[in-house]
Amino acid sequence: MNLENKVVLITGAGLPNGIGAGIARCFANEKAKVVVTDLDASIVDETATSLPTDALGLVADAASQAAMDEAVDKTIDKFGGLDVLVNNAGVGGPTLSQVNYANDPEEEVALFGMSDAAWDAQLMFNLRTTFSSSSAAAAKMNDGGSIVNIASIAALGPATGLPAYGAAKAGVVHLTKTHAMQLAARRIRVNCICPGLLWTRAWEMLATNMKAQQTEFANMSIRQVFETVVARSTPLGGEQTPEDIGNLAVFYASDWARMITGQVVAVDGGISVK
Ligand SMILES: NC(=O)c1ccc[n+]([C@@H]2O[C@H](COP(=O)([O-])OP(=O)(O)OC[C@H]3O[C@@H](n4cnc5c(N)ncnc54)[C@H](O)[C@@H]3O)[C@@H](O)[C@H]2O)c1
Repeated sequence: MNLENKVVLITGAGLPNGIGAGIARCFANEKAKVVVTDLDASIVDETATSLPTDALGLVADAASQAAMDEAVDKTIDKFGGLDVLVNNAGVGGPTLSQVNYANDPEEEVALFGMSDAAWDAQLMFNLRTTFSSSSAAAAKMNDGGSIVNIASIAALGPATGLPAYGAAKAGVVHLTKTHAMQLAARRIRVNCICPGLLWTRAWEMLATNMKAQQTEFANMSIRQVFETVVARSTPLGGEQTPEDIGNLAVFYASDWARMITGQVVAVDGGISVK
């Protein structure tokens, strides 16, 4: 799946152990030119320069169309075009407080009774990011390009502990199908991946909350909390890696998938069919 000369922009790809950086490594291994964007200025350059390909690091808020317009323009200035957008930015977390969004991850764990601000923040982190970044990228992307949206298994059924996150990710699944139809005339394909359970900063935060709130986890390390959840829920056994997600993103973006659009595939070891 050689993607030589293809230009790929990945949002939220700064953290070295995050899914976005894993996706970036998979595209770099196929010789694509890679643009790493993130809110966190301290990590984008290092992650970009660690890739074995031509790469660029840019600070950009994926939920801001103006910021993403600028990132797309800089991408085209540097590499001459844009072929692939991966909408990976999402979840919540400390870096988001830098842009003054309401941010209280603990509120998200409530079954009901979240504040309006926490609900709005989750929708902004996890749904507007995809809409704003896709709007900016689609306006200038080469015809025949590809958009890959990262949703979650939380989109595929009830997400009782994470209602706003689940609703936002279900919105990403829906947007995938709408954008696939809107962009089909330009042969731009839009597809979605629903990751299962990956040990990234997002799960470190979730496991910390679970340890604090559920007595069965009180004496475990947060890594043990995560491993217990993986063991209970994953038919194939074991957690997923960022590269498991990146490999499907590369396939979606390649000519092997030239007749695939509007599709949603879970990379979750079978969790969603259990
Ligand atoms: N980790 C999992 O188990 C899991 C499961 C299902 C889906 N996902 C999804 O995968 C994606 C990546 O998750 P992760 O686990 O690597 O998360 P993470 O928190 O480890 O990393 C997310 C990265 O995105 C950046 N980011 C967040 N909001 C941003 C914004 N508005 N603009 C630019 N950058 C932004 C953060 O700074 C961080 O570098 C998310 O969309 C998440 O919902 C993760």
